[in-house]
Amino acid sequence: MTDASAPDPRLLFFAGSTRANSFNKRLAKLGAMIAEANSIPATFVDLADYPMPIYNGDLEAESGQPENAHKLKNLMKAHTGVMIVCPEYNASITPLLKNTIDWVSHVRDEGEAPLEVYRTRVFALASASGGGLGGLRGLMHVRAILELGIGALVLPEQFALPRANDSYDEHGHLKNKDQTEQFKAVIQKLARAARVLHS
Ligand SMILES: Cc1cc2nc3c(=O)[nH]c(=O)nc-3n(C[C@H](O)[C@H](O)[C@H](O)COP(=O)(O)O)c2cc1C
Repeated sequence: MTDASAPDPRLLFFAGSTRANSFNKRLAKLGAMIAEANSIPATFVDLADYPMPIYNGDLEAESGQPENAHKLKNLMKAHTGVMIVCPEYNASITPLLKNTIDWVSHVRDEGEAPLEVYRTRVFALASASGGGLGGLRGLMHVRAILELGIGALVLPEQFALPRANDSYDEHGHLKNKDQTEQFKAVIQKLARAARVLHS
């Protein structure tokens, strides 16, 4: 039974790569398309549009937090669930994603509890890689950062796309129907969890 008073879930999708032809960006975009096709409002954003310097405490003390960190935090706030699609670099998170998470974790507007935006959304993780494990190992680190470091709620379900160089058709969909269904199941669970958390 769904709570009629709960707001409709809104999902934000972004990837931890800014590469033009990024497999992970394509998966994040596809995730937003799948959500919309299933009547779940969704937004895809490209971190290339939110550049930030590498975090440095002196820089923060002198210049404050980058405007793009505020913009991203507000975007997260405007959605109830967030899917992060992250490439695996040396079995871990990309520096881009870690830097983005770190800057946003320091943005605290007046009246907000520390880390409030992270602690009041639901997160889901996905990855894509040309390798056989699909970037699965990197997601363990992304999960640890969000859960242990930040106190965010992260779904146990996640999706990893192996051999991503041969997995997309010309429309950006996955060629493999089973993989599409697995990815869709994670997105639908994210939407359900976001609805429950905000009811
Ligand atoms: C520094 C570096 C380390 C990498 N380490 C891994 C790895 O541990 N496992 C893996 O599957 N792929 C690894 N890769 C390959 C990436 O998965 C591949 O470049 C992928 O296309 C990056 O994601 P993107 O397409 O979204 O930009 C690595 C790539 C780089 C640049």
